[in-house]
Amino acid sequence: MNGQQFQDEVQYFNCQMGEVIEQKMQRCSNEIIHDALSYIQDTGGKRLRPILCLLSAEAVGGSREKAMTTAIAIELLHNASLVHDDIIDDNYVRRKSPSNPAMYGEKKAIVIGDFLFGISCEMLAKCGVPEVVGLVSSAVSDIAMGEYLEFSLRTLQETTEQSYLEVATLKTASTFMASAEAGAMLGGGSEAEIDNFRNYGKNVGIAFQIQDDILDICGDPAKTGKPVGLDIKNGERTILVIHALNHSERSEREYISEIMTGKRELDSFDIDRMRELFIKAGSIDYALQLSNKLVMGAKSSIAGLKESEAKSKLQYITDLTAERIKNQVLDVIIQSANHLYTH
Ligand code: IPE
Ligand code: IPE
Ligand code: MG
Ligand code: MG
Repeated sequence: MNGQQFQDEVQYFNCQMGEVIEQKMQRCSNEIIHDALSYIQDTGGKRLRPILCLLSAEAVGGSREKAMTTAIAIELLHNASLVHDDIIDDNYVRRKSPSNPAMYGEKKAIVIGDFLFGISCEMLAKCGVPEVVGLVSSAVSDIAMGEYLEFSLRTLQETTEQSYLEVATLKTASTFMASAEAGAMLGGGSEAEIDNFRNYGKNVGIAFQIQDDILDICGDPAKTGKPVGLDIKNGERTILVIHALNHSERSEREYISEIMTGKRELDSFDIDRMRELFIKAGSIDYALQLSNKLVMGAKSSIAGLKESEAKSKLQYITDLTAERIKNQVLDVIIQSANHLYTH
């Protein structure tokens, strides 16, 4: 698989989901339909989860058509969770556009999120397999548990990597796990294959959250479509913060703690300083290595499958998630080195 083929997958899925959205828009005239659904269609997104779902079905010998309604349901629920997450995180920019709450206000955004969860359920019911309905629905409650747990971590003095991984598994890996597992189930995979796909989704999902943490501080907003340093402003205990607190000098640790607990009014220099502290403590390197290990774990979970185009596409997408951050991180480390050199 190459970049063009991945784009083709995205386009294929967008066409299928577009039809469902058009139908819904034609059947009903309530204003929310337009605001919620045109937002999803117009702003795009990487569509990683539904593509993983379709490819998982194919990789075990089934057809992607059987997994399509479930793939659409998962993309809808992912979008619903992002609408609510942008309220929680006070995030005004997503996918290079005003976020849903920025566009419609927080109150409408709560309702839009609920509406999207609702039509996700409608789609999911069409898959006709109760186990799949069960496992995808439990991803919704997992996301809620992950977001809730994250609130409590924000107020703690110290957070462990174990708590971080628990949050990442619940809020992020849950949808990747549901995509891969449901895909394998709908494709008629064996028990062992379904387990392997669940494991694949877990590894990719946690790696993806770690990469997202790195991009928050090193990402180029023109590429990520999201603001820089929002996790820091929100006192989020990312993998970088946890590592840096354990690998910095005392004065630096105190500074990081003040930032994280909101004892200091933040300015853009603080974001730059935090980035430099992360680089100095080796935290970005550490997070990259951890994400690479998980990517390898994901690939090995499905290594035993019979060779197929779908399998190699799945391996490619796993690498792609890691690849997308490398150049952005390198640019930032070079800039930071230049900055330290000239000061
Ligand atoms: C964003 O997910 C939320 C995280 C789990 C980090 P994506 O990065 O997959 O979002 P879109 O759908 O491509 O915008
Ligand atoms: C991911 O959390 C959101 C969900 C999985 C619901 P984040 O808050 O870390 O994701 P971004 O950075 O806003 O996309
Ligand atoms: Mg967020
Ligand atoms: Mg969040």
